[in-house]
Amino acid sequence: MMQNRLILRVLSVFTLFFFSLTAYGQANLDEGKDLFRNNCASCHNKDMKSKMTGPALGKVEERWEGREELLYEWIRNSQGVIASGDEYAVSLYNEWGQTLMNPFPNLTDEQITNIISYVNFVYDNGAYPLPEGGDIAAAGAGGQETDNTWLYWTIFGVLIILCIILANIISNLNYLKEVRETGSGSRKTLIDILTSKTVISLVLFGLIIFGGYNTINSAISLNRQQGYQPDQPIKFSHVTHAGDQGIECQYCHDGARRSKHSIIPAANTCMNCHKAVKVGSSYGTAELTKIYASTGYDPNTDKYVDNMSNDKAEEIYKKWMATQYNVANSKEETAKLDKAGEQLVNDQWDGIVSSLTTDVKESVYGPIPWIRLHNLPDHAYFNHAQHVTVGGIECQTCHGKVEEMEVVQQYSPLSMGWCINCHRNTKINNTGVAEDYYNTHYKELSEGVKTGEVQQFHVEDIGGLECQKCHY
Ligand code: HEC
Ligand code: HEC
Ligand code: HEC
Ligand code: HEC
Ligand code: HEC
Ligand code: HEC
Repeated sequence: MMQNRLILRVLSVFTLFFFSLTAYGQANLDEGKDLFRNNCASCHNKDMKSKMTGPALGKVEERWEGREELLYEWIRNSQGVIASGDEYAVSLYNEWGQTLMNPFPNLTDEQITNIISYVNFVYDNGAYPLPEGGDIAAAGAGGQETDNTWLYWTIFGVLIILCIILANIISNLNYLKEVRETGSGSRKTLIDILTSKTVISLVLFGLIIFGGYNTINSAISLNRQQGYQPDQPIKFSHVTHAGDQGIECQYCHDGARRSKHSIIPAANTCMNCHKAVKVGSSYGTAELTKIYASTGYDPNTDKYVDNMSNDKAEEIYKKWMATQYNVANSKEETAKLDKAGEQLVNDQWDGIVSSLTTDVKESVYGPIPWIRLHNLPDHAYFNHAQHVTVGGIECQTCHGKVEEMEVVQQYSPLSMGWCINCHRNTKINNTGVAEDYYNTHYKELSEGVKTGEVQQFHVEDIGGLECQKCHY
């Protein structure tokens, strides 16, 4: 019995340790990400590698090496550190045209550590969380996972060996006790111990925990796309457009009503309004200029330039942003830029280039490289018109309250179970269905309803659970 209790204790320590490790690794970066997004992303580029209003934060610890405390102090109150006359801080401040960084006096040490961990993670891996199969990220992700797995297996191995040693000692003690009490006894061999009921049930217990952990983990990563919320090349906000401005979803996503795809609007749709709305209240010229660069629209002259080269674009948009900077600073529009203005315009131009170009698109001119969130595998067929127009389902049922999302995220799991569940539970709404469609699809069933043979029918009754309806 003593043997049981000891081994149980060892196992529970092992389990606890195992889980606390996993939890620790995650919470950090998630919190760091939220803090960074909410407090720092307006000035520090989220790729951690390029400049914006403030410097790129990647590898920031190296620049403050041996002076971590001062770095934390800087983040809480950069002005204080500059005022203290610290040489690096002062030169940094001057280098950035004496731009003020907001103070964050309420951030705790732990929160700052989380932000910096997040910064490092993104700098090393390109993104967080890592998109599934993301190219840049894949290498980093692989490396990370192996690291952890290696650690878990080592711990697991060590604990197994410990258990065996302990079991051996206990069995020897038992043997000695037996000899003392009865004068004779039988010594158990290692095989006896390993095949004893206790050990077998403990191993089973361990396997169940381990298996359960792995199953849950891989189930999560299968649907990793749910909640997927990448940063987009333009800070386009559904809150501003679909919420505050009350623009209909279908004004932009006009495919939803009539075709399989809902379609991300082309930049020309944006131009319907942004030819007039040229300066935004949140980002000034910076974000809206990206729409102009992608369509080749010259806001200085209100004309379009065909096939604009990057050099031409740089000339046009730097001029435009310089004018806007001068206007904002109550100077003559055509005045020469001051130092801060020059810095800002250069940074804004860098931002435009890094947002609108990708590995395969070198020109800022051309379609905006929006990152697509929703992606069913090729073997599954989904049709928007079928659901929106025929089925009368609101966008929000499947996509959540998009009009309240500053950055859109994937709301539903998009798993087969999700489709099937809704098809089982949703009653057919046959209002507004074209007559011929109605006839071919629902005739029998709706006659059944009339005669009272059928109470009501669900999508499953019209074939919504048939494999070939959803699979090619
Ligand atoms: C209003 C814009 C702004 C915001 C918001 C901002 N920063 Fe800064 N940050 C700057 C500027 C500008 C600099 C360059 C120094 C200067 O001009 O004061 C800087 C410098 C830094 C540096 C020093 C970089 C180096 O290379 O040594 C760190 C670290 C830093 N910021 C961290 C943060 C963190 C963390 C947050 C969010 C909690 C944040 N900043 C929010 C503008 C900002
Ligand atoms: C002014 C135009 C506009 C309006 C209005 C608009 N959207 Fe969008 N929507 C976009 C753009 C641009 C994107 C791509 C950028 C992004 O993901 O933020 C997008 C992306 C999306 C996505 C993610 C698509 C994907 O898989 O990448 C969904 C879902 C979406 N919109 C739903 C809606 C819904 C629902 C409404 C109405 C409540 C709506 N949109 C209103 C322009 C618009
Ligand atoms: C029906 C008119 C309309 C359409 C279409 C439209 N917008 Fe807007 N957009 C607005 C209005 C109005 C604002 C608010 C401007 C402000 O904040 O001062 C705005 C604000 C913005 C802002 C924030 C600017 C800032 O600095 O505050 C961005 C970025 C933006 N729109 C991008 C887009 C993109 C990209 C598209 C096309 C997918 C688009 N808009 C389509 C009307 C529109
Ligand atoms: C029954 C659920 C459902 C409804 C209702 C729905 N969507 Fe979707 N939406 C999806 C699915 C599933 C995808 C992924 C499709 C794919 O990958 O082929 C998607 C993808 C999208 C995309 C990405 C581009 C594309 O077409 O793949 C946009 C944008 C979008 N939906 C907007 C809307 C808008 C706007 C509405 C309302 C008019 C709407 N959706 C209604 C389920 C729905
Ligand atoms: C919110 C509920 C809902 C979800 C989620 C949903 N559907 Fe549907 N689906 C419907 C309704 C309602 C209809 C019936 C429309 C009609 O014909 O009246 C339908 C019809 C269909 C049809 C046509 C069936 C037929 O017999 O004509 C297909 C195919 C389909 N859905 C595929 C999908 C796929 C694939 C998914 C998941 C990616 C999905 N649906 C998710 C509600 C849903
Ligand atoms: C209402 C639509 C719908 C119906 C009906 C449906 N499927 Fe699926 N199925 C899907 C979608 C969507 C996916 C992709 C799920 C994902 O990406 O996780 C899928 C995925 C799969 C997969 C790949 C494994 C996986 O989970 O990704 C298999 C195999 C499959 N379905 C078989 C079937 C068979 C067999 C039937 C008939 C009994 C069937 N499906 C009926 C929508 C459907």
